[in-house]
Amino acid sequence: MKAAIVGTGYVGLVSGVVFADAGIKTICVDNDQAKLKMLRSGKSPIFEPGLEEMMQRVEEKGHISFTDSISDAVQASDVIFIAVGTPPQEDGSPDLSYVKAVARDIGRAITKYIVIVDKSTVPVGTAKMVHEIILGECGDASLFDVVSSPEFLREGSAVEDTVNPDRVVIGADSERALNTVKRLYTGFPTEILETDIASAELIKYASNCFLATKISFINMISRYCEAAGGNVDDVAKGMGMDTRIGKQFLKAGLGWGGSCFPKDVSALIWMGETLGVDAGILTSTVAINEDQPAHCLRRVSEELGGLEGKKIAIFGLSFKPHTDDIRDAKSLVIIDALRSMGASISATDPICMDEVAKLHPDVEMHTDAISAAQGADAAILVTEWPEYAGIELSDLASALKTPLLFDGRRVFTAEDAKAAGIKRLTIGEQG
Ligand SMILES: NC(=O)c1ccc[n+]([C@@H]2O[C@H](COP(=O)([O-])OP(=O)(O)OC[C@H]3O[C@@H](n4cnc5c(N)ncnc54)[C@H](O)[C@@H]3O)[C@@H](O)[C@H]2O)c1
Repeated sequence: MKAAIVGTGYVGLVSGVVFADAGIKTICVDNDQAKLKMLRSGKSPIFEPGLEEMMQRVEEKGHISFTDSISDAVQASDVIFIAVGTPPQEDGSPDLSYVKAVARDIGRAITKYIVIVDKSTVPVGTAKMVHEIILGECGDASLFDVVSSPEFLREGSAVEDTVNPDRVVIGADSERALNTVKRLYTGFPTEILETDIASAELIKYASNCFLATKISFINMISRYCEAAGGNVDDVAKGMGMDTRIGKQFLKAGLGWGGSCFPKDVSALIWMGETLGVDAGILTSTVAINEDQPAHCLRRVSEELGGLEGKKIAIFGLSFKPHTDDIRDAKSLVIIDALRSMGASISATDPICMDEVAKLHPDVEMHTDAISAAQGADAAILVTEWPEYAGIELSDLASALKTPLLFDGRRVFTAEDAKAAGIKRLTIGEQG
């Protein structure tokens, strides 16, 4: 069994490396020459725990190779995955131009039977569109099948999620294609859901939108706690003890960001508009999420008597811990808003400072939280990297001009803050 994956991003590279580690000869394709150069020298262009080590191991064994030639990959493989980006457009729809370009290149190269798997997150009807593009190029429908198998890995634990997936969804309308893809997952400890293609395409959007809604729901509840009393963590705990609700994705905070939730929620709203389906829940989910950083800054501003001329320290820049991804990160929203209010910014992050500095050269970068806080009027904890839980709050209080911390991810308790002599504001608690 030989596999190829087009796109060596978070999804494609991790999937390729994990397949190769499972003994499947895998070809990874990308058209970014700088990425290919790094990959061939054993360096991962992205940060994911455990990825680079596993990649070096499979490269030594000769189980993985890297190329810019989709044609070579098609010739050498039984299955080819499309794992290129599908970024959001102005109207919320995903940009399918990368998927279409890859489909055309695959179509031109086909000479023997191959299964094409849409792994990118794409709207219902995309597998059909990919089929038409490929047929238009190769002219023989017996030479290929198109299958939808969306990806569910989480950045920050992508390798672990791919080695031990919760589920593998395979949407296929051909037994031959279904069985070929199933064979790839022999040996993976997972449940396989076989379904029709449209359902597979929808499962991905439905899953991400449900998770985003769960987070926005608890953030809505957090406002009740702030207004009426109560602790949102206790409310979430009590809700999560009900197995029908579940504990996960009930952490109140500055809201969701990243490369998937924002664009997938926008895409499902857009799909609703085009299909005549009312996606009202999702528009509220977005509205709640967009107000979280603004709500944080309103509260900090009230406490400081305005933000004009103030300096604010930001702890954490990636959209969540354990990743170098800053796409749609709350830190960027907060930096923009602070700047527009006339504040200056110092910041720290274990991995992302260089990337953010390219976008915001005026942000002062520091290697640790206490240095970032030195002389600032307040600090905002934006991303809950584990190292920030170890911040000595009394040191933070001494470093800040005003001992004020907005704990945007509810890392510290009211008691921790009181004992250290620092004023703690947070989401979902009065104070
Ligand atoms: N990142 C995640 O956590 C995640 C999780 C599940 C699903 N997804 C979905 O998977 C898809 C890929 O996401 P990602 O985060 O890995 O994207 P990414 O932007 O990190 O990587 C995409 C890669 O595709 C390459 N590429 C683009 N066009 C190409 C072409 N014509 N030929 C060869 N290579 C090409 C790019 O150079 C890039 O390396 C998206 O649809 C995304 O929504 C992402």
